[in-house]
Amino acid sequence: MIVRESPIGDIVRVNRTVKEFTDTGTFDEEYFLQRCQGKTSLFLCAYEGDEPIGYSVWYDKEGDGAFYCWMAGVNPEYRRKGILSAMIDFGIDFAQKRGYSHMTIKTRNSRREMLSYLVSHGFCIVSVEPAESVQENRILFSKDLALKQGKS
Ligand SMILES: CC(C)(COP(=O)(O)OP(=O)(O)OC[C@H]1O[C@@H](n2cnc3c(N)ncnc32)[C@H](O)[C@@H]1OP(=O)(O)O)[C@@H](O)C(=O)NCCC(=O)NCCS
Repeated sequence: MIVRESPIGDIVRVNRTVKEFTDTGTFDEEYFLQRCQGKTSLFLCAYEGDEPIGYSVWYDKEGDGAFYCWMAGVNPEYRRKGILSAMIDFGIDFAQKRGYSHMTIKTRNSRREMLSYLVSHGFCIVSVEPAESVQENRILFSKDLALKQGKS
């Protein structure tokens, strides 16, 4: 498996395999491109051979020194093999080389695997946005990129 910057078509292709997202809507190329327009951004896929099996999309959301990981998902057939971890490591390296001091990511109480990753890899909770149900509350996490990376 390798992680590399990828065409937007591959992002859309993997996203269609992530059941948790397809249940909530259809996401086409325009959806991803519009969000990142005019901002420093990073479109990543993990590949097994030529097959994209995981993706993450990052951009400079606030211009505040943080590089924001907006969306990430892995094809259910390839989960728990370190694909998310490899994509986040790639994104952190990209951000550090461009002088970002933090990476940020938002998730929900319902996304237990992502919560588990964030808590065990040194991310701190910054704030919680209440939603229609506690399960859907949005939790903003941040990681200081000056600190040693890895599990903590
Ligand atoms: C969240 C998601 C991207 C994780 O991808 P993944 O490639 O399976 O994750 P990794 O194998 O890199 O796991 C990294 C860490 O995450 C945590 N984790 C991942 N899956 C987990 C699970 N099922 N149970 C508990 N912890 C889990 C663990 O801490 C794991 O480290 P470890 O394997 O050393 O214990 C994947 O489950 C997914 O696509 N979920 C649906 C979409 C989603 O929720 N996206 C995030 C929205 S913010």
